Amino acid sequence: MHIAVIGTGYVGLVSGAGLADFGMIVTCVDIDEKKIRKLKRGEIPFYEPGLENLVKKNMKAGRLVFTTDLAKAVKNSLVIFICVGTPPSSDGSADLSQIKEVALSLAEVIDEYKVIVTKSTVPVGTNRWIKQLIDANKKTEASVDIISNPEFLREGNAVEDFMHPDRVIIGGESAYAIAIIKDIYRPLYLAETPFIITNLETAELIKYASNAFLATKISFINEIANFCEKVGADVTVVAKGMGLDPRIGAKFLNPGPGFGGSCFPKDVKALVKQGRQLSSPFKILEAVIEINEKQKMRAIEKLENFLGDLKDKTIAILGLSFKPNTSDVRESPALTVVNQLHQRGAKIRVYDPVAMEEFKSSIGQIPVEYSSSPEEAVKSADALVILTEWNEFRFLELPKIKSLMKSPILIDMRNIYEPEIVKKLGFSYAGIGRS
Ligand SMILES: NC(=O)c1ccc[n+]([C@@H]2O[C@H](COP(=O)([O-])OP(=O)(O)OC[C@H]3O[C@@H](n4cnc5c(N)ncnc54)[C@H](O)[C@@H]3O)[C@@H](O)[C@H]2O)c1
Repeated sequence: MHIAVIGTGYVGLVSGAGLADFGMIVTCVDIDEKKIRKLKRGEIPFYEPGLENLVKKNMKAGRLVFTTDLAKAVKNSLVIFICVGTPPSSDGSADLSQIKEVALSLAEVIDEYKVIVTKSTVPVGTNRWIKQLIDANKKTEASVDIISNPEFLREGNAVEDFMHPDRVIIGGESAYAIAIIKDIYRPLYLAETPFIITNLETAELIKYASNAFLATKISFINEIANFCEKVGADVTVVAKGMGLDPRIGAKFLNPGPGFGGSCFPKDVKALVKQGRQLSSPFKILEAVIEINEKQKMRAIEKLENFLGDLKDKTIAILGLSFKPNTSDVRESPALTVVNQLHQRGAKIRVYDPVAMEEFKSSIGQIPVEYSSSPEEAVKSADALVILTEWNEFRFLELPKIKSLMKSPILIDMRNIYEPEIVKKLGFSYAGIGRS
Protein backbone atom coordinates (compact mmCIF):
# COMPACT_ATOMS: atom_id res chain seq x y z
CA MET A 1 0.00 0.00 0.00
CA HIS A 2 1.23 3.49 -0.84
CA ILE A 3 1.04 6.11 1.87
CA ALA A 4 1.86 9.82 2.02
CA VAL A 5 2.92 11.43 5.29
CA ILE A 6 2.67 15.22 5.35
CA GLY A 7 5.03 16.97 7.77
CA THR A 8 8.37 15.41 8.70
CA GLY A 9 8.75 16.62 12.29
CA TYR A 10 8.97 14.28 15.25
CA VAL A 11 5.60 12.68 14.57
CA GLY A 12 5.71 12.62 10.77
CA LEU A 13 9.24 11.31 10.41
CA VAL A 14 8.87 8.62 13.07
CA SER A 15 5.45 7.60 11.69
CA GLY A 16 6.71 7.59 8.10
CA ALA A 17 9.74 5.47 8.95
CA GLY A 18 7.66 3.22 11.22
CA LEU A 19 4.96 2.64 8.60
CA ALA A 20 7.67 1.88 6.02
CA ASP A 21 9.06 -0.66 8.47
CA PHE A 22 5.58 -2.26 8.60
CA GLY A 23 6.00 -2.82 4.83
CA MET A 24 4.16 0.22 3.43
CA ILE A 25 5.61 2.29 0.60
CA VAL A 26 5.85 5.72 2.21
CA THR A 27 6.44 9.16 0.72
CA CYS A 28 7.19 11.81 3.34
CA VAL A 29 6.38 15.38 2.33
CA ASP A 30 7.50 18.66 3.89
CA ILE A 31 7.49 22.29 2.77
CA ASP A 32 10.89 22.79 4.40
CA GLU A 33 13.26 22.22 1.47
CA LYS A 34 16.36 22.23 3.66
CA LYS A 35 14.89 19.48 5.84
CA ILE A 36 13.97 17.36 2.82
CA ARG A 37 17.46 17.80 1.32
CA LYS A 38 18.96 16.56 4.60
CA LEU A 39 16.56 13.63 4.83
CA LYS A 40 17.34 12.59 1.25
CA ARG A 41 20.97 12.31 2.38
CA GLY A 42 19.84 10.14 5.31
CA GLU A 43 20.50 12.91 7.87
CA ILE A 44 17.99 13.33 10.72
CA PRO A 45 17.19 16.99 11.44
CA PHE A 46 16.81 16.46 15.22
CA TYR A 47 18.08 14.11 17.90
CA GLU A 48 15.93 11.01 18.40
CA PRO A 49 17.50 7.70 19.48
CA GLY A 50 17.15 4.88 16.93
CA LEU A 51 15.52 7.03 14.25
CA GLU A 52 18.51 7.35 11.95
CA ASN A 53 18.89 3.57 11.66
CA LEU A 54 15.18 3.10 10.99
CA VAL A 55 15.13 5.81 8.31
CA LYS A 56 18.28 4.56 6.57
CA LYS A 57 17.14 0.92 6.65
CA ASN A 58 13.81 1.74 5.00
CA MET A 59 15.33 4.16 2.48
CA LYS A 60 17.73 1.42 1.44
CA ALA A 61 14.85 -1.04 1.09
CA GLY A 62 13.12 1.44 -1.25
CA ARG A 63 10.10 1.84 1.03
CA LEU A 64 10.79 5.40 2.24
CA VAL A 65 11.31 8.49 0.09
CA PHE A 66 11.24 12.23 0.77
CA THR A 67 9.88 15.05 -1.34
CA THR A 68 8.50 18.59 -1.29
CA ASP A 69 6.06 17.66 -4.06
CA LEU A 70 2.75 17.12 -2.25
CA ALA A 71 0.74 16.62 -5.45
CA LYS A 72 2.90 13.74 -6.64
CA ALA A 73 2.97 12.07 -3.23
CA VAL A 74 -0.82 12.30 -2.91
CA LYS A 75 -1.49 11.07 -6.44
CA ASN A 76 0.31 7.79 -5.74
CA SER A 77 -1.20 7.20 -2.29
CA LEU A 78 -4.47 5.77 -1.03
CA VAL A 79 -3.89 7.00 2.53
CA ILE A 80 -2.55 10.41 3.58
CA PHE A 81 -1.38 11.02 7.12
CA ILE A 82 -1.41 14.67 8.27
CA CYS A 83 1.42 15.23 10.78
CA VAL A 84 2.00 19.01 10.61
CA GLY A 85 2.36 21.22 13.67
CA THR A 86 -0.51 22.67 15.73
CA PRO A 87 1.39 25.24 17.81
CA PRO A 88 -0.29 27.51 20.36
CA SER A 89 -1.85 30.79 19.19
CA SER A 90 -1.39 33.88 21.35
CA ASP A 91 -4.82 33.27 22.98
CA GLY A 92 -3.90 29.67 23.91
CA SER A 93 -6.02 27.97 21.26
CA ALA A 94 -4.40 25.57 18.78
CA ASP A 95 -3.16 27.37 15.66
CA LEU A 96 -4.66 25.30 12.83
CA SER A 97 -3.11 27.27 9.96
CA GLN A 98 -0.74 24.43 8.95
CA ILE A 99 -3.67 21.99 8.99
CA LYS A 100 -5.78 24.35 6.89
CA GLU A 101 -2.99 24.83 4.38
CA VAL A 102 -2.60 21.06 4.00
CA ALA A 103 -6.38 20.51 3.67
CA LEU A 104 -6.58 23.15 0.92
CA SER A 105 -3.54 21.69 -0.88
CA LEU A 106 -5.15 18.25 -0.73
CA ALA A 107 -8.41 19.64 -2.13
CA GLU A 108 -6.44 20.98 -5.13
CA VAL A 109 -4.93 17.64 -6.08
CA ILE A 110 -7.27 14.83 -5.00
CA ASP A 111 -8.74 13.15 -8.05
CA GLU A 112 -9.73 9.75 -6.69
CA TYR A 113 -10.87 8.22 -3.37
CA LYS A 114 -8.48 8.92 -0.47
CA VAL A 115 -8.41 8.27 3.25
CA ILE A 116 -7.13 11.33 5.14
CA VAL A 117 -5.74 10.47 8.58
CA THR A 118 -5.03 13.19 11.15
CA LYS A 119 -2.16 12.32 13.48
CA SER A 120 -1.53 15.92 14.53
CA THR A 121 -3.13 16.82 17.87
CA VAL A 122 -6.22 18.84 16.94
CA PRO A 123 -9.12 20.25 18.99
CA VAL A 124 -12.41 18.38 19.03
CA GLY A 125 -14.31 19.10 15.83
CA THR A 126 -11.23 19.70 13.67
CA ASN A 127 -11.44 16.46 11.68
CA ARG A 128 -15.00 17.23 10.67
CA TRP A 129 -13.84 20.73 9.64
CA ILE A 130 -10.95 19.27 7.58
CA LYS A 131 -13.41 17.09 5.65
CA GLN A 132 -15.71 20.06 5.06
CA LEU A 133 -12.75 22.15 3.80
CA ILE A 134 -11.67 19.44 1.38
CA ASP A 135 -15.23 18.72 0.19
CA ALA A 136 -15.94 22.43 -0.34
CA ASN A 137 -12.71 23.08 -2.27
CA LYS A 138 -12.00 19.89 -4.21
CA LYS A 139 -11.78 20.14 -7.99
CA THR A 140 -13.22 16.71 -8.83
CA GLU A 141 -16.05 14.43 -7.69
CA ALA A 142 -13.57 12.15 -5.85
CA SER A 143 -14.67 11.37 -2.29
CA VAL A 144 -12.58 11.40 0.86
CA ASP A 145 -13.03 9.77 4.24
CA ILE A 146 -11.45 11.25 7.33
CA ILE A 147 -9.93 9.38 10.25
CA SER A 148 -8.67 10.73 13.58
CA ASN A 149 -5.64 8.71 14.67
CA PRO A 150 -3.91 10.73 17.41
CA GLU A 151 -0.28 9.94 18.16
CA PHE A 152 1.05 9.25 21.66
CA LEU A 153 4.79 8.81 21.02
CA ARG A 154 7.17 10.46 23.47
CA GLU A 155 10.21 12.33 22.21
CA GLY A 156 13.36 10.50 23.31
CA ASN A 157 11.54 7.16 23.04
CA ALA A 158 9.61 7.85 19.87
CA VAL A 159 10.66 4.87 17.73
CA GLU A 160 9.96 2.35 20.48
CA ASP A 161 6.63 4.07 21.26
CA PHE A 162 5.55 3.97 17.61
CA MET A 163 6.50 0.31 17.22
CA HIS A 164 4.99 -0.76 20.55
CA PRO A 165 2.22 1.69 21.45
CA ASP A 166 0.03 1.25 24.53
CA ARG A 167 -3.00 1.68 22.29
CA VAL A 168 -4.08 2.70 18.80
CA ILE A 169 -7.02 5.09 18.60
CA ILE A 170 -9.02 5.17 15.37
CA GLY A 171 -11.91 7.61 15.11
CA GLY A 172 -14.09 7.73 12.03
CA GLU A 173 -17.44 7.22 10.42
CA SER A 174 -16.62 5.13 7.37
CA ALA A 175 -16.30 1.40 8.11
CA TYR A 176 -14.32 1.05 4.85
CA ALA A 177 -11.75 3.70 5.84
CA ILE A 178 -11.47 2.26 9.36
CA ALA A 179 -10.78 -1.18 7.85
CA ILE A 180 -7.99 0.29 5.69
CA ILE A 181 -6.32 1.92 8.70
CA LYS A 182 -6.64 -1.26 10.76
CA ASP A 183 -4.95 -3.06 7.89
CA ILE A 184 -2.04 -0.59 7.91
CA TYR A 185 -1.58 -1.26 11.63
CA ARG A 186 -1.88 -5.04 11.21
CA PRO A 187 1.58 -5.71 12.74
CA LEU A 188 0.42 -3.98 15.93
CA TYR A 189 -2.96 -5.73 15.88
CA LEU A 190 -1.18 -9.08 15.62
CA ALA A 191 1.01 -8.10 18.58
CA GLU A 192 -2.20 -7.64 20.61
CA THR A 193 -1.96 -3.88 20.92
CA PRO A 194 -5.35 -2.63 22.18
CA PHE A 195 -7.32 -0.83 19.45
CA ILE A 196 -10.09 1.62 20.22
CA ILE A 197 -12.45 2.27 17.34
CA THR A 198 -14.68 5.23 18.02
CA ASN A 199 -16.13 8.42 16.56
CA LEU A 200 -14.06 11.43 15.48
CA GLU A 201 -14.82 13.59 18.51
CA THR A 202 -14.02 10.87 21.03
CA ALA A 203 -10.71 10.06 19.34
CA GLU A 204 -9.72 13.73 19.32
CA LEU A 205 -10.58 14.14 22.99
CA ILE A 206 -8.74 10.96 24.10
CA LYS A 207 -5.49 12.68 23.06
CA TYR A 208 -6.20 15.95 24.89
CA ALA A 209 -7.58 14.24 27.99
CA SER A 210 -4.49 12.00 28.19
CA ASN A 211 -2.00 14.86 27.95
CA ALA A 212 -4.03 17.03 30.31
CA PHE A 213 -4.15 14.25 32.89
CA LEU A 214 -0.39 13.65 32.73
CA ALA A 215 0.29 17.37 33.06
CA THR A 216 -2.07 17.44 36.05
CA LYS A 217 -0.08 14.65 37.70
CA ILE A 218 3.12 16.68 37.29
CA SER A 219 1.64 19.90 38.67
CA PHE A 220 0.10 17.92 41.53
CA ILE A 221 3.42 16.40 42.60
CA ASN A 222 5.17 19.77 42.16
CA GLU A 223 2.73 21.31 44.65
CA ILE A 224 3.23 18.39 47.01
CA ALA A 225 7.01 18.93 46.66
CA ASN A 226 6.70 22.61 47.53
CA PHE A 227 4.59 21.68 50.57
CA CYS A 228 7.20 19.06 51.60
CA GLU A 229 9.77 21.84 51.82
CA LYS A 230 7.57 23.69 54.34
CA VAL A 231 6.88 20.70 56.58
CA GLY A 232 10.12 18.70 56.46
CA ALA A 233 8.80 15.78 54.37
CA ASP A 234 10.68 14.12 51.50
CA VAL A 235 8.74 14.20 48.23
CA THR A 236 10.69 11.30 46.71
CA VAL A 237 9.46 9.03 49.49
CA VAL A 238 5.95 10.53 49.39
CA ALA A 239 5.80 9.84 45.63
CA LYS A 240 7.08 6.31 46.12
CA GLY A 241 4.50 5.67 48.81
CA MET A 242 1.74 7.05 46.60
CA GLY A 243 2.90 5.30 43.45
CA LEU A 244 2.74 1.84 45.01
CA ASP A 245 -1.03 2.20 44.98
CA PRO A 246 -1.97 0.81 41.55
CA ARG A 247 -4.90 3.24 41.38
CA ILE A 248 -2.34 6.06 41.38
CA GLY A 249 0.69 4.55 39.63
CA ALA A 250 4.31 5.61 40.05
CA LYS A 251 4.83 7.34 36.68
CA PHE A 252 4.74 11.11 36.30
CA LEU A 253 5.17 11.65 40.02
CA ASN A 254 8.64 13.19 39.74
CA PRO A 255 8.79 16.83 40.81
CA GLY A 256 10.94 19.17 38.76
CA PRO A 257 11.32 22.63 37.26
CA GLY A 258 7.89 22.50 35.56
CA PHE A 259 6.74 20.59 32.48
CA GLY A 260 7.69 21.80 29.01
CA GLY A 261 7.95 20.39 25.53
CA SER A 262 5.92 20.84 22.40
CA CYS A 263 2.83 19.02 23.70
CA PHE A 264 1.76 19.36 27.35
CA PRO A 265 1.82 23.18 27.63
CA LYS A 266 0.08 23.79 24.31
CA ASP A 267 -2.42 20.94 24.60
CA VAL A 268 -3.51 21.88 28.12
CA LYS A 269 -3.94 25.52 27.04
CA ALA A 270 -5.90 24.51 23.94
CA LEU A 271 -8.26 22.30 25.96
CA VAL A 272 -8.80 25.07 28.52
CA LYS A 273 -9.56 27.48 25.69
CA GLN A 274 -12.06 25.14 24.05
CA GLY A 275 -13.68 24.41 27.42
CA ARG A 276 -14.18 28.14 28.01
CA GLN A 277 -15.55 28.65 24.50
CA LEU A 278 -18.12 25.91 25.09
CA SER A 279 -19.01 27.11 28.62
CA SER A 280 -17.57 23.92 30.06
CA PRO A 281 -14.53 25.31 31.90
CA PHE A 282 -11.65 23.11 33.05
CA LYS A 283 -10.95 24.63 36.48
CA ILE A 284 -8.37 21.94 37.30
CA LEU A 285 -6.42 22.57 34.10
CA GLU A 286 -6.42 26.32 34.62
CA ALA A 287 -4.72 25.65 37.97
CA VAL A 288 -2.32 23.17 36.32
CA ILE A 289 -1.07 25.91 33.96
CA GLU A 290 -0.73 28.47 36.76
CA ILE A 291 1.17 26.03 39.00
CA ASN A 292 3.49 25.16 36.14
CA GLU A 293 4.36 28.79 35.42
CA LYS A 294 5.21 29.31 39.11
CA GLN A 295 7.22 26.12 39.20
CA LYS A 296 9.56 27.39 36.48
CA MET A 297 10.59 30.13 38.97
CA ARG A 298 11.58 27.71 41.73
CA ALA A 299 15.18 27.40 40.51
CA ILE A 300 15.55 31.19 40.66
CA GLU A 301 14.04 31.33 44.18
CA LYS A 302 16.45 28.65 45.34
CA LEU A 303 19.43 30.47 43.83
CA GLU A 304 18.37 33.70 45.54
CA ASN A 305 18.03 31.87 48.86
CA PHE A 306 21.72 31.00 48.68
CA LEU A 307 23.21 33.96 46.84
CA GLY A 308 20.83 36.90 47.44
CA ASP A 309 21.20 39.34 44.55
CA LEU A 310 22.14 37.43 41.38
CA LYS A 311 23.63 40.47 39.62
CA ASP A 312 27.08 39.62 38.18
CA LYS A 313 26.92 36.10 39.64
CA THR A 314 27.96 33.31 37.27
CA ILE A 315 25.35 30.58 37.11
CA ALA A 316 26.09 27.27 35.37
CA ILE A 317 23.15 25.36 33.95
CA LEU A 318 23.25 21.70 33.02
CA GLY A 319 20.41 20.58 30.76
CA LEU A 320 18.49 22.71 28.27
CA SER A 321 16.08 20.28 26.58
CA PHE A 322 12.71 19.88 28.32
CA LYS A 323 13.61 16.28 29.12
CA PRO A 324 16.53 13.90 28.45
CA ASN A 325 17.16 12.14 25.13
CA THR A 326 15.81 14.91 22.95
CA SER A 327 17.19 18.10 21.43
CA ASP A 328 13.73 19.72 21.67
CA VAL A 329 13.73 22.92 23.74
CA ARG A 330 10.18 24.05 22.92
CA GLU A 331 8.65 25.49 26.15
CA SER A 332 11.62 24.09 28.09
CA PRO A 333 11.87 25.45 31.67
CA ALA A 334 15.49 26.31 30.77
CA LEU A 335 14.20 29.13 28.56
CA THR A 336 12.39 30.74 31.51
CA VAL A 337 15.30 30.20 33.91
CA VAL A 338 17.85 31.73 31.51
CA ASN A 339 15.51 34.64 30.77
CA GLN A 340 15.00 35.34 34.47
CA LEU A 341 18.72 35.08 35.24
CA HIS A 342 19.42 37.55 32.46
CA GLN A 343 16.82 39.98 33.82
CA ARG A 344 18.60 39.80 37.20
CA GLY A 345 21.98 40.61 35.63
CA ALA A 346 23.53 37.15 36.11
CA LYS A 347 26.18 35.69 33.81
CA ILE A 348 24.91 32.46 32.29
CA ARG A 349 26.92 29.46 31.24
CA VAL A 350 25.18 26.35 29.89
CA TYR A 351 25.86 22.81 28.77
CA ASP A 352 23.59 20.20 27.20
CA PRO A 353 24.71 17.05 25.35
CA VAL A 354 22.52 17.67 22.28
CA ALA A 355 20.21 20.69 22.69
CA MET A 356 22.60 23.66 22.54
CA GLU A 357 22.04 24.49 18.85
CA GLU A 358 18.25 24.51 19.24
CA PHE A 359 18.54 26.51 22.46
CA LYS A 360 20.72 29.10 20.70
CA SER A 361 18.06 29.72 18.08
CA SER A 362 15.26 29.88 20.67
CA ILE A 363 16.80 32.15 23.30
CA GLY A 364 17.33 35.10 20.94
CA GLN A 365 19.61 37.98 21.94
CA ILE A 366 20.27 36.93 25.54
CA PRO A 367 24.03 36.52 26.05
CA VAL A 368 24.77 32.92 27.02
CA GLU A 369 28.13 31.15 27.13
CA TYR A 370 27.96 27.65 25.64
CA SER A 371 30.34 25.09 27.19
CA SER A 372 31.68 21.88 25.77
CA SER A 373 31.41 19.90 29.03
CA PRO A 374 29.88 20.13 32.52
CA GLU A 375 33.37 20.83 33.89
CA GLU A 376 33.85 23.80 31.56
CA ALA A 377 30.39 25.14 32.47
CA VAL A 378 31.05 25.18 36.22
CA LYS A 379 34.51 26.87 36.10
CA SER A 380 34.44 29.72 38.66
CA ALA A 381 30.65 29.53 38.81
CA ASP A 382 28.82 30.83 41.87
CA ALA A 383 26.21 28.07 41.56
CA LEU A 384 25.27 25.07 39.48
CA VAL A 385 21.67 24.31 38.49
CA ILE A 386 20.69 20.92 37.05
CA LEU A 387 17.52 21.32 34.97
CA THR A 388 17.40 18.13 32.87
CA GLU A 389 18.14 14.63 34.15
CA TRP A 390 20.47 13.50 31.35
CA ASN A 391 22.19 10.27 32.47
CA GLU A 392 25.61 11.89 32.15
CA PHE A 393 24.65 14.41 34.88
CA ARG A 394 23.85 11.59 37.30
CA PHE A 395 27.51 10.61 37.53
CA LEU A 396 29.37 13.91 37.69
CA GLU A 397 32.73 13.76 39.41
CA LEU A 398 31.46 15.93 42.24
CA PRO A 399 34.78 16.58 44.08
CA LYS A 400 36.23 17.86 40.78
CA ILE A 401 33.11 19.93 40.08
CA LYS A 402 33.41 21.46 43.56
CA SER A 403 37.08 22.28 43.10
CA LEU A 404 36.31 24.12 39.86
CA MET A 405 33.49 26.27 41.26
CA LYS A 406 33.83 29.60 43.00
CA SER A 407 31.22 28.58 45.55
CA PRO A 408 29.92 25.00 45.70
CA ILE A 409 26.18 25.56 45.48
CA LEU A 410 24.17 22.83 43.76
CA ILE A 411 20.52 23.32 42.86
CA ASP A 412 19.25 19.93 41.77
CA MET A 413 15.85 20.50 40.13
CA ARG A 414 15.50 16.80 39.26
CA ASN A 415 16.54 15.27 42.61
CA ILE A 416 19.20 13.15 40.95
CA TYR A 417 21.61 13.42 43.89
CA GLU A 418 21.30 12.25 47.49
CA PRO A 419 21.32 15.38 49.68
CA GLU A 420 23.33 13.79 52.50
CA ILE A 421 26.11 12.55 50.19
CA VAL A 422 26.40 15.85 48.35
CA LYS A 423 26.42 17.86 51.57
CA LYS A 424 29.16 15.59 52.98
CA LEU A 425 31.26 16.50 49.93
CA GLY A 426 30.97 20.13 51.01
CA PHE A 427 28.22 21.39 48.70
CA SER A 428 25.41 23.67 49.75
CA TYR A 429 22.58 21.65 48.22
CA ALA A 430 18.93 22.21 47.41
CA GLY A 431 16.83 19.61 45.69
CA ILE A 432 13.12 19.91 45.20
CA GLY A 433 10.67 18.83 47.89
CA ARG A 434 13.40 17.59 50.21
CA SER A 435 13.92 20.18 52.91
N1 LIG B 1 6.41 15.98 19.23
C1 LIG B 1 5.73 15.08 19.94
O1 LIG B 1 6.25 14.46 20.86
C2 LIG B 1 4.30 14.79 19.60
C3 LIG B 1 3.69 13.65 20.13
C4 LIG B 1 2.37 13.39 19.82
C5 LIG B 1 1.65 14.27 19.01
N2 LIG B 1 2.26 15.40 18.53
C6 LIG B 1 1.49 16.28 17.66
O2 LIG B 1 1.86 16.01 16.31
C7 LIG B 1 1.87 17.21 15.54
C8 LIG B 1 3.24 17.42 14.92
O3 LIG B 1 4.16 17.60 15.97
P1 LIG B 1 5.74 17.62 15.70
O4 LIG B 1 6.40 17.75 17.02
O5 LIG B 1 6.09 16.48 14.82
O6 LIG B 1 5.84 19.00 14.89
P2 LIG B 1 7.10 19.63 14.15
O7 LIG B 1 6.93 21.08 14.27
O8 LIG B 1 8.35 18.97 14.65
O9 LIG B 1 6.91 19.20 12.62
C9 LIG B 1 5.91 19.68 11.79
C10 LIG B 1 6.43 19.60 10.36
O10 LIG B 1 5.38 19.94 9.46
C11 LIG B 1 5.95 20.68 8.38
N3 LIG B 1 4.89 21.42 7.69
C12 LIG B 1 4.23 22.52 8.09
N4 LIG B 1 3.33 22.91 7.16
C13 LIG B 1 3.42 22.00 6.15
C14 LIG B 1 2.76 21.87 4.89
N5 LIG B 1 1.82 22.72 4.52
N6 LIG B 1 3.10 20.84 4.10
C15 LIG B 1 4.06 19.97 4.48
N7 LIG B 1 4.73 20.05 5.65
C16 LIG B 1 4.41 21.06 6.48
C17 LIG B 1 6.98 21.54 9.05
O11 LIG B 1 7.92 22.04 8.12
C18 LIG B 1 7.59 20.56 10.05
O12 LIG B 1 8.67 19.86 9.50
C19 LIG B 1 1.42 18.31 16.49
O13 LIG B 1 0.04 18.47 16.39
C20 LIG B 1 1.77 17.75 17.86
O14 LIG B 1 0.96 18.27 18.88
C21 LIG B 1 3.57 15.66 18.79
